[in-house]
Amino acid sequence: MALQSPILSFLRLSSHSRSPILQFRPFLTRNHHRRHLQTSSTSPPIPDYAFAFDIDGVLVRSSDPLPRAHKALSYLQSQNIPFILLTNGGGKHESERVEELSKKLKVPLDTSMFVQSHTPFEELDEYKDKTILVVGGDEDKCRRVAERYGFKSVITPGDILTAHPSIWPFSQQFLPYYASFSRPLPRPILPNDPTNSLQISAVFIYNDPRDWGLDIQVLKDLLLSRAGIFGTLSSKNNNPELPNRGFQRDGQPPLFFSNPDLLWAAAYHLPRLGQGGFREALEGVWAAITGGPRMGVELEKTVIGKPFQATFEFAERKLLTHRADLVREQELGRAEQKVGRLKRVYMVGDNPASDIRGGNTFKSPRGMEWVSVLVGTGVHVPGSEPEWAPRAEVGDVWDAVRWAVGEEKMKM
Ligand code: G3P
Ligand code: MG
Repeated sequence: MALQSPILSFLRLSSHSRSPILQFRPFLTRNHHRRHLQTSSTSPPIPDYAFAFDIDGVLVRSSDPLPRAHKALSYLQSQNIPFILLTNGGGKHESERVEELSKKLKVPLDTSMFVQSHTPFEELDEYKDKTILVVGGDEDKCRRVAERYGFKSVITPGDILTAHPSIWPFSQQFLPYYASFSRPLPRPILPNDPTNSLQISAVFIYNDPRDWGLDIQVLKDLLLSRAGIFGTLSSKNNNPELPNRGFQRDGQPPLFFSNPDLLWAAAYHLPRLGQGGFREALEGVWAAITGGPRMGVELEKTVIGKPFQATFEFAERKLLTHRADLVREQELGRAEQKVGRLKRVYMVGDNPASDIRGGNTFKSPRGMEWVSVLVGTGVHVPGSEPEWAPRAEVGDVWDAVRWAVGEEKMKM
């Protein structure tokens, strides 16, 4: 379901969707680009092409910078060639992650050139005054990201387990861990008093879940509930007269996943399961409970992140705003230098299913060309046939930059 046309499926899953319409806001401009913009009269003009770099498997492996990542990014900054970082990762606020990456890669970076999997959630204003459930990430870091996005009432599965340990019998040994960061619930779970019981208006999976058992149990309870009220069961469930056999037809909270990646490149030599693995596990449990596709039941959800159109649209807007700042800075320095519009973006990634598919299938609303470049330092095994064919396959990120700049030189 999530694999259909991205913008509408970004929020709308089917004709009777319950998802909101997303009104894109202009990004705030920032004025500290001088740090990495060459403005002297001899510095190169900002060209009509730019880059979007994936992070895991391209710039870093787990937390270690890849050998030529610094060289690639600092070269681009020396040539005033704009770039953004576009990752399906997350779990920390953009400002924190940018700070870390900047130090690791020894390249000045800032949030105006940075898109994480959950960054677009910041625009979902309609849930900011409602109680939402945020799943995934270390401890309750993702809750704090959501709060910095402006969500006022954010709970985690850990809060629920700490308040009601019987909700999932198999994480009792983790209670001390959860107690270290959980918070009291805004309302208790009161099966006999649903009007005063805890109610969830939306569920967001911000990052790779750590405790799949607890998280799947809590999501199952919500998806079968009446109107997202914990401890209740919807009477519409399993009604063959209703669409989707009545499942998710009783005001249950919409489900937002930020990252579809089944596999990603971490420290281990073989790819590891990602948020997509968790979603597949949930879908499996949901199908076992509801009868699944063979009974005409699906798990209605919204999945964003690469390769989906809406995430690339979000990233393209971010890149354009960032580039416009650089252009303004440069023109301040050299009024005579007029900079043309951006025509081409090189999407450099290690994962054919997200980076390359996204770069190949993205339809830029501004008619910009996106060119996919696959590196061999992450998920993709060099020499194997990638699921989605890139425009170019290279060794690592520095090879990707050299190849693209070479292509551009040939166009001159
Ligand atoms: O959890 C992160 C992973 O799915 C991939 O991240 O940077 O390769 O898009 P990235
Ligand atoms: Mg990657």
